[in-house]
Amino acid sequence: MPVSAGIVRSYVPGETNESAADATAGLAQDGLLVTLDFLGEDTLDADQAEATVAAYVDVLKQLSARGLTRGAEVSVKLSAIGQFLPEVGHKTALENARTICRAARNAGTTVTLDMEDHTTTDSTLSILRELRKDFPETGAVLQAMLHRTEADCRALAHEGSRVRLCKGAYLEPEDVAFQDRLDVDKSYVRCLKVLLAGEGYPMIATHDPRMIEIAGSLASRYGRTPGTYEFQMLYGIRPDEQRRLAEKGERVRVYVPYGTEWYGYLMRRLAERPQNLSFFVKSLISK
Ligand code: FDA
Repeated sequence: MPVSAGIVRSYVPGETNESAADATAGLAQDGLLVTLDFLGEDTLDADQAEATVAAYVDVLKQLSARGLTRGAEVSVKLSAIGQFLPEVGHKTALENARTICRAARNAGTTVTLDMEDHTTTDSTLSILRELRKDFPETGAVLQAMLHRTEADCRALAHEGSRVRLCKGAYLEPEDVAFQDRLDVDKSYVRCLKVLLAGEGYPMIATHDPRMIEIAGSLASRYGRTPGTYEFQMLYGIRPDEQRRLAEKGERVRVYVPYGTEWYGYLMRRLAERPQNLSFFVKSLISK
């Protein structure tokens, strides 16, 4: 990692499939589940998309060989596997995602499709529907900041459906997304109610102490026992809280991004928490 390795490593544990498998093993020792993300979003290069697919297939084999797939799955950004290729994007992303889903199935685990900016939501959900015909275990992400998401939650709150609910990490225009943090939080709670009251498997992805507390009370209200839903947090963010929840008996999954293409991911994390920016600048100056 060429730049400011300190701050990068606190969010991205390594560049290789081996380092991802090592990080998975370390988290598993603390009773934490994992979802791995091989970084490389927004590619316009078919070869790079193929290389990303190959990386996923290989890491799934490594997880399986090391007996780690009971507690680890993969998260995939469709823009990393061809969704933005001119003309053939949708078809390429679907075929590539199918290859990864097959490899995950063979390894005894699952795939969750990450959600990117709102211009991709329809394409991603349509690819999800196609994939679920052969791989019904495939999960998706919905973003509370989008106006459409409560309705999307209703459509996906069915048996066998795995939905990760997050607030949303992209800068979105006001005709499609709530702009005020409070409105995003209110939407998050409405969506939580739909998912927890529904028949699917909700994956509650947030570091927000209020949302975590509300999710816990709603889970009890709707008769959910630990194991019928899970909490998810990003690698390096609130690790003590991850362990505290796991020790309390909750299922907790850590999203572990890895690879050399960490820049876009890190910039989104810094934008969310400007306090981290000063660490980043200091580590650049000290180089
Ligand atoms: P938010 O950023 O609103 O923070 C609320 C509170 O949480 C803070 O006030 C603080 O108390 C606490 N907190 C947050 N960050 C902290 C930190 N670094 N250190 C200490 N406390 C902190 N987005 C997307 O658009 N598509 C996707 O596919 C995904 N996938 C995804 C997977 C998983 C597992 C997670 C956890 C998140 C995503 N996201 C995502 C990102 C998500 O949309 C969102 O941008 C971040 O999770 C930040 O939102 P929070 O809900 O954590 O709260």
